[in-house]
Amino acid sequence: MRSRLVSLLRRFFTVLAVLTLPLFTGGWLGEVFPTSGHQSTFETEGPVAKTQLDVFYVTLWVSLAIFLAVAAVLAYATIKFKARKSDDEHTPVPPQSHGNPLIELGLIAASVAALVIIAVPTLKAIWFTYDVPEAERANAYEVTARGLQWWFQFEYPSEQIDGVGQLITANELVIPAGRPIRINLRTNDVIHSFWVPKLGGKVDMIPNRGNHLWLKADEPGYFWGQCAEFCGESHSVMRFRVIALAADDFAAWVENQKKPARTVEAPEGAEIPQAVFASYDMTRQKRNAPGYSAEFDADPMGAWVAKQFPEKDENAALIAKGRELFVAKNCMTCHAVRGHEGVGVNGPDLTHFGSRTTLAAGLLENNPRELHRWIVHPNDVKPGNKMWVGVNGMAGYLNIDRSVRYEKQVERHIQVSDEEGRALVEYLLSLK
Ligand code: CUA
Repeated sequence: MRSRLVSLLRRFFTVLAVLTLPLFTGGWLGEVFPTSGHQSTFETEGPVAKTQLDVFYVTLWVSLAIFLAVAAVLAYATIKFKARKSDDEHTPVPPQSHGNPLIELGLIAASVAALVIIAVPTLKAIWFTYDVPEAERANAYEVTARGLQWWFQFEYPSEQIDGVGQLITANELVIPAGRPIRINLRTNDVIHSFWVPKLGGKVDMIPNRGNHLWLKADEPGYFWGQCAEFCGESHSVMRFRVIALAADDFAAWVENQKKPARTVEAPEGAEIPQAVFASYDMTRQKRNAPGYSAEFDADPMGAWVAKQFPEKDENAALIAKGRELFVAKNCMTCHAVRGHEGVGVNGPDLTHFGSRTTLAAGLLENNPRELHRWIVHPNDVKPGNKMWVGVNGMAGYLNIDRSVRYEKQVERHIQVSDEEGRALVEYLLSLK
């Protein structure tokens, strides 16, 4: 009995020490319990996320104080009243405080105090994060984020294009830094959730319900976002980016995005160099392999700026071939390329695809190798994606007839060879 108690106590204090150690020490423990990273909520870069972090800390410290007080009383009672000798077990029960009004009222008061300490900053935070503060409303910038299985569409109602409508882009939300951004949250299919850990969130995108949130990036920067509500088989790879730009840079970006797709004319009699068909070494591709390079990871903002300019060593003949294939392979029925042949609305708008740093909803770095991997083997990258299985009654790479037996229902509709993939890559990356 006694040795069991001692071992239980020892276990309890070991767990307590391990759990609370990182809270009281810094330095090397940061390596063991990292609080940094692209999606860290501990490194906030805007007022909404900062407010959410403050509420977290208030709740954490109050809970920790209660935990330590209860654990201390429990440990004290356990040690003080434990049976020391075998006949101790027959000693009378110590005096009971049950019914002591001072203790009972004291505990009720302490509980109420703890709840009030948590409730006041929580309610203030709910009020603050719900909508752009009155004083800043005139300066707010409005965008619409639309969730789809499994990518995000971003719409800019204040950026109208003549004869087209509002500016539409996908998977990378470019915003002006230092201004509150009011985001309308919509979905076309199931429930998704919008979350940019360093800037704010998360609020659900619910069918037939107009939700919204706001956030602000204090400084220009490159931020990671993520769908935070299970929405189907590729939920975990439904990501996006937020790029916050200084006012001038943002205006320049908007102006470029409003333009129709960039056209690279193929010179008369131009040849497609065979060298471009050199292998991208696809044998090294593994499922769940990181989709971006170390250089990109080290300087994503630098990578974003570089993507605004034409790729090095563009080949006009190959671009023209890719543009043809974009039609021949039926890509144009789902993807819009304003000014070119693409007119579809089921997939992301690709008018300025080449100016984005990521593809497949923030999963892969937008470089020739990853883009080729995505175009030729989309289902290996993002299981169940609609480009592969079809969407809204249209066939994708597969044509699935759900009215027949399983073994007969799937038929390959679109084939993209390695070489065709390379031409499509060259065309898409030319769309700056
Ligand atoms: Cu969309 Cu999870």
